[in-house]
Amino acid sequence: MKRIAVLTSGGDAPGMNAALRAVVRYGIYYDMEVYAVHRGYEGLIDNEFERMSRRSVADIMHRGGTIIKTARSERFLLKENREIAIKNLQKLKIEALIVIGGNGSLAGANLLSEEFNFPVIGLPGTIDNDLGYTDYTIGFDTAVNTVLDAISKIRDTSSSHERSTVIEVMGRHCGDIALHAAYTGGGEIVLVPEMDTTVDDVCRKVNEGIESGKLHSIVLRAEGYPVSSQELIRRLKEETGQDVKLVVLSYLQRGGSPTYRDRILATECGIRAVELLKEGIYNRAIGEVGGKIVHLDLAKALKSKRSLREDLLEGLRVLSM
Ligand code: F6P
Repeated sequence: MKRIAVLTSGGDAPGMNAALRAVVRYGIYYDMEVYAVHRGYEGLIDNEFERMSRRSVADIMHRGGTIIKTARSERFLLKENREIAIKNLQKLKIEALIVIGGNGSLAGANLLSEEFNFPVIGLPGTIDNDLGYTDYTIGFDTAVNTVLDAISKIRDTSSSHERSTVIEVMGRHCGDIALHAAYTGGGEIVLVPEMDTTVDDVCRKVNEGIESGKLHSIVLRAEGYPVSSQELIRRLKEETGQDVKLVVLSYLQRGGSPTYRDRILATECGIRAVELLKEGIYNRAIGEVGGKIVHLDLAKALKSKRSLREDLLEGLRVLSM
């Protein structure tokens, strides 16, 4: 394998740069020409390739975001545009593509493999931790740490004023950011799309806290939970008589320097991707299971369903009493 390309796609995630650096430097180490595609699948369609050198990825390990840019490409959903993308790859004699992104991005890579038999490798890059085949995705740890920092600060003011706060976090259809942050940040309640906790349950829990002498409650609401934050606040005010505030952390969770955990996951996934290509192994998704870097068939990986960690849910229930 002499020429490979790499792109980042979907929502950016801290650690994407670390993964890119590993791909570029390991590729060059194994005598490959490495091309970066700018703006994800958009750049693949628009022919935006850049030949990378070891220096192109200098000083990026610590930076959040992605230096080669990213996009959510509507155009890539059309087969005629995927054909253009493949022609662009072929014109440059690129033999394989590494895609760093979430569910939709890896599904895009899988289409290139299934429709055109083009060799691809997928790396899990998303803060959401919503890919079922891997314990962790690149960016998740940094995002949870950002939420924890916010919880600590909110806790100071919320306990001083003896009021409750609903903190809305990202995650799309996955409650992992909310659950992991509530568990390690001392939250009282977590509201996630995977569980049908009702607003009545939340009000009951906050009222029990008030009766047992709690100064305040922190409610973590994942953005995919079906009742809106505004409605939740309205009901909580009504049912508890307390002042209740809403903090939406939004894009703060996507930025920032990646943590050690994200850097090492990203680097190891990037190295493994290049090694697989060198060995002639394609169409794999790379991830981490039980603390080890693993790779499995991309199509199968995309089908594996993610479930919330029951032990964390139970621990949170007991610890927050
Ligand atoms: O997938 C990452 C994510 O940050 C989700 O948590 C969130 O729902 C979405 O992206 C927001 O996407 P956009 O950047 O397109 O607004």
